[in-house]
Amino acid sequence: MSKEIRIGVMGMLRGSGYVSLFKQMEGCRVTAVCDFNPVSLERGKAALDDSIRVFTDFDSFIDSGLFDAVMLCNFFFEHVPFALRAMERGIHVLSECTPALTLAECVQLCEAVERTGCKYMLAENYPYFACNLEMARRFARGDIGRALFTEGEYNHPVTVHDKNMLAPGLYHWRNWLPRSYYLTHSLSPIMAITGATPVAVNAKNVFSPEELKGSANRVGDSVAVLMVEMDDGSISRLTGCAAWGGHGNWYRICGTRGNMENVRGSLDRIRVQYNGWQIPEGQSEVNTVQARYSEDEDLNRAAAGAGHGGGDYFVAYDFLRYLRGETEPMFDVYRCVSMSATAVLAHRSAIEHGRDFRIPDFRDPASRKVWLSDTASPFPDADGHATMPCSSHPDFAPTAEDIANAEKEWKEAGLI
Ligand SMILES: NC(=O)c1ccc[n+]([C@@H]2O[C@H](COP(=O)([O-])OP(=O)(O)OC[C@H]3O[C@@H](n4cnc5c(N)ncnc54)[C@H](O)[C@@H]3O)[C@@H](O)[C@H]2O)c1
Repeated sequence: MSKEIRIGVMGMLRGSGYVSLFKQMEGCRVTAVCDFNPVSLERGKAALDDSIRVFTDFDSFIDSGLFDAVMLCNFFFEHVPFALRAMERGIHVLSECTPALTLAECVQLCEAVERTGCKYMLAENYPYFACNLEMARRFARGDIGRALFTEGEYNHPVTVHDKNMLAPGLYHWRNWLPRSYYLTHSLSPIMAITGATPVAVNAKNVFSPEELKGSANRVGDSVAVLMVEMDDGSISRLTGCAAWGGHGNWYRICGTRGNMENVRGSLDRIRVQYNGWQIPEGQSEVNTVQARYSEDEDLNRAAAGAGHGGGDYFVAYDFLRYLRGETEPMFDVYRCVSMSATAVLAHRSAIEHGRDFRIPDFRDPASRKVWLSDTASPFPDADGHATMPCSSHPDFAPTAEDIANAEKEWKEAGLI
């Protein structure tokens, strides 16, 4: 790798924010971006300058020789095919969530990382909230003992208009996204804090299409509630990406000696409570603590104000450190795909009324091969055909009136 790390970014909606972030960081340079949609390029152009080459075609972009590492901010359901193409060329990958879409892709991604020796990191930003980093430090020093029960909620309701702006097109992934599939924002903080990995899952979905009138959404569910067994013996209750009234993120770790959670509505304050007979020195039975990202105040200042509670800053910062050999990523590829597999199997469980599924062990080359033929996906091809339902109510579909309203809004905004 060249001394100065050269970065390419694919997808100029989410990606433009990362172009700006990498430009602020020392020892790296964004040399190229790629997006085939002129509307996205126009929206992201403020992040660009004359030194950054713009591509509209992925083949020319990936073969340009202009970068050592690529950040994939393309469509949610298409990260693996592009990650594989990058790694086969010796290009390291920072991938937006989700890591993989199907169980087959989980295997393919692990095999590609092993075969190419390329570095792979998930751009999962939520474990880097100050509250989650503070809880991770306290958990690591044993303050609350062993994890028994954990909870992760990612609740992101949006208006019908915003939904249409974020999902322009009948077949846009956000219109077909099962609630459990966007799981990393609720699961990854729990895994990062406790170090545990999922081993089994079951789930049920809440069907409530009443808030979708005027959108092209095909899912109709507003919450997936998952019960996940972890390899440390704890149980986690997670929501996937939920949409009940009142936006927020909430994480809770209950251990043998005490429990911790972020204060509802806050990403930088936590509440810690201990057994009265097991209070660590210098603390009280119940504590409200101002959370910090790190012990390094320069780093804290740099991250403050960055997108997603500072998390975006740390994703870019840690990716560069990983490429330089200064750290390992928070999740290796096996832990990354275990999140995708949990998401996929949770959705199957919800369709099968809560049946329990074991999560495959993707570290074991012999046993994981069986999943290479499991390519079922709830996302449609170019003709609108998917190989499994995206909703707990498979017959649910938007009405002609809903679609007409969505198309009107897409046209008015110049998105189609
Ligand atoms: N971690 C977070 O907090 C966070 C927040 C928002 C989005 N995301 C993730 O970022 C990704 C992108 O989401 P988004 O919000 O930008 O919306 P999006 O998925 O609508 O945008 C994707 C962009 O990639 C471009 N693209 C797709 N395929 C391409 C190809 N083959 N060649 C060239 N360009 C291509 C599209 O034109 C579009 O501009 C998703 O995976 C999403 O989950 C993560």
